[in-house]
Amino acid sequence: MSDSDLERVAAAMVAKGKGILAADESNSTAGKRFDKFGIAKTEENRRAYRELLFTTPDAPQWISGVILYDETIRQKTAAGVPFPDYLTKLGIIPGIKVDLGAKPLALHANETITEGLDGLRERLEEYYRLGARFAKWRAVIDIGTDIPSRGAIEANAHALARYAALCQEQNIVPIVEPEVLMDGAHTIERCEQVTDATLNEVFIQLHRARLHLEGMILKPNMVISGKKCPTQATPEQVAAATVRCLKRHVPGAVPGIAFLSGGQSPAEAALHLSLMNRGTTLPWQLSFSYGRALQDAALSAWAGKSANVAAGQKEFRKWARLNALARNGSFQAGMEQQAA
Ligand code: 13P
Repeated sequence: MSDSDLERVAAAMVAKGKGILAADESNSTAGKRFDKFGIAKTEENRRAYRELLFTTPDAPQWISGVILYDETIRQKTAAGVPFPDYLTKLGIIPGIKVDLGAKPLALHANETITEGLDGLRERLEEYYRLGARFAKWRAVIDIGTDIPSRGAIEANAHALARYAALCQEQNIVPIVEPEVLMDGAHTIERCEQVTDATLNEVFIQLHRARLHLEGMILKPNMVISGKKCPTQATPEQVAAATVRCLKRHVPGAVPGIAFLSGGQSPAEAALHLSLMNRGTTLPWQLSFSYGRALQDAALSAWAGKSANVAAGQKEFRKWARLNALARNGSFQAGMEQQAA
């Protein structure tokens, strides 16, 4: 393992003016997204859709890395080039989702533990050979009556730390993703309390696992009102609470923080990131690693039809560019109306 390789890749993942595309939906999640547009849930349709995204003109200007799924990392462009090779040639770093999903946590009703540690070392070795230079593991913390429990937070933080250490051992940069869900009716204050407790435990566990913090990326939720909360915090409040919470927990040694979008609309996700990057100088890069916020418009424009590939690419290009503007605070509300 080389710390300097890990640091170089981590820094490139959060390079100024760029962010990460999360295109690592499992086949079942991709299927749910396809269902909305009546797109057949076939391997070829998933391949064609990922090819649309990866071959979008100008995307390498704004996209530093792409998170792939196990099926996707083994797929090829129509011209026969394996996706990881295609991306690497464009200067986009291929990454891979390695967790096996959130499963019910025993004796903890309505809480989950993310699985996938058994055999992970061998899977990472293979993914490295296939071209992956970073990985992702998502832990899920839900807010509700009497949850999250201390036990669920600790178990998930511990699994994240074991995953992250295995990644670094295999020369792969871990994206550490503890996602506090925005589903539910909770207030922004409750989200801040739970995010605070979660990040605190995550960094305790990472320290205990001897993680090289300079060679990782944190992928957190923003501190935000629950979707069903009757009083929604303003974008300025979301930005201020998120930065306050991160400053309390994320050591300056971590090179970058790349948010998930988590169910925010594309315009909200871009605005929140932009506002956070408009404030005072921060110790880390604040970037994006969005799935839905980068893809929703593209998937809708494509709708599974080869005649719509250019229209889908136009939407992906637009949202990649707008979020790249948010990286230095220059995305403004309403810009998406004019942007081509
Ligand atoms: P969203 O941006 O759609 O939340 O997806 C990001 C991701 O990778 C979730 O694990």
